[in-house]
Amino acid sequence: MAIIEALYTLAAEVDAREDYTRHHSKKVSEYATDLARALGYSAEGIDRIRTSALLHDVGKIGVVISDKVLAKNPSERLRVRAHPYIGVVMLRYVEGLEECIPAIHHHHENYDGTGYPDQLKGDDIPLDARILAVADTFDNMISPRPYRPAYSTEKVLEYIEKASGSHFDPLVATAFLSTATRERVGSIAGTLSNDPED
Ligand SMILES: [Fe+2]
Repeated sequence: MAIIEALYTLAAEVDAREDYTRHHSKKVSEYATDLARALGYSAEGIDRIRTSALLHDVGKIGVVISDKVLAKNPSERLRVRAHPYIGVVMLRYVEGLEECIPAIHHHHENYDGTGYPDQLKGDDIPLDARILAVADTFDNMISPRPYRPAYSTEKVLEYIEKASGSHFDPLVATAFLSTATRERVGSIAGTLSNDPED
């Protein structure tokens, strides 16, 4: 559908506004579809996760901001927290995306109820969103930011293990940490680099 293709392009543009987030949504979609497959999703469910992941941060188009400002000014951090809702407002009437809205809306909820925007907890968070949370965090942490270097893959996997049950759904974290997925994440991270030279 042409409008959805246009939205993918818009989301990729949002990522490309900062060198260090280039390809972010594409990589999150690769991690998330692997996870959905490992969790036994149907082909239709995997497609839904792919689309949700490609569009999960499109609402950032409405938040003109840089991580440099974010690091220095906590109130700007609050502004960026509006992006899931802006994404929902942008996408909710697009035919074909209805089932992607819950994942886009809730991809920053934490399993223990400390996330945003609605502080949902446990299984009240849609499973698609719990998958995106792991995939999104992984890619964010292995990518450098202006105010910190990239974490190593091993360090991030350690974090995902440690935060299982608090930040992440234990079921999803366990699936991500499985040996097969570990090999795959290494290959995705290598293929789609955030390197500014890329
Ligand atoms: Fe996000």
